Amino acid sequence: MKKDLISIKDLSAKEIMDIFSLTDRLKNNKAKFSKALKGKTLALIFQKPSNRTRVSFEVGMFQLGGNSLYLSPNEISLGVRESIADVAKTLSRYIDGIVLRTFEHKNCLEMAKTASIPVINGLSDFSHPCQGLADLYTIREKAKGLKNITLAYIGDGNNVCHSLLFACAKLGVNMHVGSPKGYEPDLLVLNDSKSMAELNNASIKLFNNAFDAVKGADVIYTDVWASMGQEEESRKRREIFASFQVNANLVNSANKNALIMHCLPAHRGEEITDDVLDGKYSVVFDQAENRMHVQKAILIKLLK
Ligand code: CP
Ligand code: NVA
Repeated sequence: MKKDLISIKDLSAKEIMDIFSLTDRLKNNKAKFSKALKGKTLALIFQKPSNRTRVSFEVGMFQLGGNSLYLSPNEISLGVRESIADVAKTLSRYIDGIVLRTFEHKNCLEMAKTASIPVINGLSDFSHPCQGLADLYTIREKAKGLKNITLAYIGDGNNVCHSLLFACAKLGVNMHVGSPKGYEPDLLVLNDSKSMAELNNASIKLFNNAFDAVKGADVIYTDVWASMGQEEESRKRREIFASFQVNANLVNSANKNALIMHCLPAHRGEEITDDVLDGKYSVVFDQAENRMHVQKAILIKLLK
């Protein structure tokens, strides 16, 4: 039966660790996998802009011996020119897998339900699973494992935050979320991940103050205050989130040598300052690089 990757919630810890082991092998021996997906084609249907996701999937597919096809909003106006189901059924006749970047999460679910080929969520308003997996892989790599790690996510309780919550909960990583009141993660995601984390001897805690949230943190993570599609709220959010900026002062309240993470793109001077983003403990470009390695592993698992 075909498998999709729509949310990290749907993966078991073993499945995630298997993706990480394959990623290790892909990183260590690129040449060995140069024909792994020979003859396969991946379609990228993107309704929002992208640098990392698009380029890492396209180049990753190329490095595995396959092809990719980028379909911009003008080509496939999902649900406008034709229904998601009709797009999914047509592409299933030509293509071996779909990466979908969209607004409403239900579009990913509909695409996965109606396509007979694997569908990968390349970011929805609700989640960003490829990001969350690459992030935990990066922490595992930098911290030499995931035991006794506490990640503090500071900022908007958005798609990236949701995927980190599921990933940390599944892998037994402690997570603190520091968000302004009214901008916390979805309550269902929070409760779900709390119970999953408990089963894995980890805890998930919510704070409405950034300094409380970074206390005891080994990793500090942030993302933009206004996500794609929320641009008109940018000004209002800049005021509301002002005390949640990741700057030297905040970093000093976390554990010594805490890693700095950001999914990028960053709004420098807003959610994070230049000195922190470009500082000694920043791993943001390793994170960006690992997107490609982890996604290659995902592609092999789903498309081969
Ligand atoms: N982090 C990430 O998904 O970046 P892009 O929006 O550039 O793809
Ligand atoms: N939360 C951001 C992530 C970008 C990779 C957004 O959705 O725009």
